[in-house]
Amino acid sequence: MKSFGCRANISPTVELQPSLLLYFQSKVFCNLMDKFRIIGGKRLEGRVSISGAKNSALPCMAASLLTSENVVLHNLPYVRDIITMRRLLEDMGCMVLMPERHTLKIDASNIKFFEAPYELVKTMRASVLALGPLVARFGQAEVSLPGGCAIGQRPIDLHLKGLEMLGAKIELVGGNVIARADRLKGNNIVFEKVTVTGTENMMMAAVLAEGVTVLENAAREPEVTDLAILLNRMGARITGVGSSTLKIEGVSKLRGAEHTIIPDRIEAGTFLVAGAITKGSLEITECNPDHIASVIDKLSEAGVKIERLSDVALRVETNGKIVAKDITTEPFPDFPTDMQAQYLALMTQAEGSAVVTENIFENRFMHASEMMRMGASITVKGNQAIIEGGKQLTGAKVLASDLRASASLVIAGLNADGETIIDRVYHIDRGYDKIEEKLCKVGASIERFRD
Ligand code: EPZ
Repeated sequence: MKSFGCRANISPTVELQPSLLLYFQSKVFCNLMDKFRIIGGKRLEGRVSISGAKNSALPCMAASLLTSENVVLHNLPYVRDIITMRRLLEDMGCMVLMPERHTLKIDASNIKFFEAPYELVKTMRASVLALGPLVARFGQAEVSLPGGCAIGQRPIDLHLKGLEMLGAKIELVGGNVIARADRLKGNNIVFEKVTVTGTENMMMAAVLAEGVTVLENAAREPEVTDLAILLNRMGARITGVGSSTLKIEGVSKLRGAEHTIIPDRIEAGTFLVAGAITKGSLEITECNPDHIASVIDKLSEAGVKIERLSDVALRVETNGKIVAKDITTEPFPDFPTDMQAQYLALMTQAEGSAVVTENIFENRFMHASEMMRMGASITVKGNQAIIEGGKQLTGAKVLASDLRASASLVIAGLNADGETIIDRVYHIDRGYDKIEEKLCKVGASIERFRD
């Protein structure tokens, strides 16, 4: 049994050929056998720094397809989804250099293929973000339909309807979306539902369209705003940034740009909950408190003491008991669905019962059944989970099902009596940069191993 406290690091200065990169991927990031062993009951104390936001990095990487000039992105998290997106861009013909671990320089001047194949899309749904930029710049794209995932069906009908509204011809052939357009034409689009990547795809399609596009009921997530800031830096003309109505005046060409990705608000929220459930005292730096105001408000209501130290730092400690408080997940700026599983873990230790209502995805309580194996008392009815708090968790062997469920099981394991073994931690590797190292540094007993 091999055990190592953190992943072997690829030297960021070594420019890896794609094939060699794939070899390292198979050895470093994507080992399906990796597990975590956690010994619970340790208070987390100290300082943890937050990485760049995966869900901003992915659309910003896709935006590089919109120009033949270099796009340089800083503060990227070193996680599996970034590696997958890099591979997708390279398969299309992009030159992607990594001058240092958290920076990519993307040159899309020599795109030869306009497709996102099923093999990649099935591992990372965000590959559909290639659709908008490819049709906008090249008039063509072939992207595999992503299919569902653990948390729900994840359709992209709103992406496709939006592209048709801009004049694209859409065909579904053999599980692939084939989109074609001579030149996209601006239009007014009202999203039936708030969709984050749908808004991002349509922004990237509209920036090179002829005329003006208005996106109504657009997503307001900070990651959407970060993409809009990058696009404007590339010469796009987007106004209403941060609001639910985006106006995009099409331009004929975009230039290269340099951009620093925003901090990962979900990672910051995850560490807030980890500090709270272990009755620790954590300083969380390089974050943006404004991006998780709804999470801070709800945790504070539940009795967690959270202090804003600056515009980029928070301190979390639990000064006593946690009180059960209900939450309902909604689009930004309300409580994010990506924090639902982590919050639910905390409620297992609260005084009283809490009702967690999941309004975004239809199957996002997979973590609940695993927590019940640790002694939690949770009843799932439709899109609601009722958590009866105050039950001491005991360590168990549990199975991660998706990215945020994995994080919630780590949080539960930090609190549980005894040893928790989490299988399939490749899910967590998709979106958390070296989480076990960051937790070790603040006192957790967690290690990655393979049987
Ligand atoms: C983004 O997914 C995030 N992923 C998700 O984070 C996040 O949970 C989600 O937004 C909600 O905030 C990335 O940004 C890469 P949606 P996305 O389109 O864009 C329905 C994580 O853990 N819908 O906003 O795919 C959809 O089924 C991941 O980091 C349609 O019906 O989510 C869902 O019910 C998980 N038709 C709701 O809208 C569409 O065409 C919101 O989905 C599109 C979406």
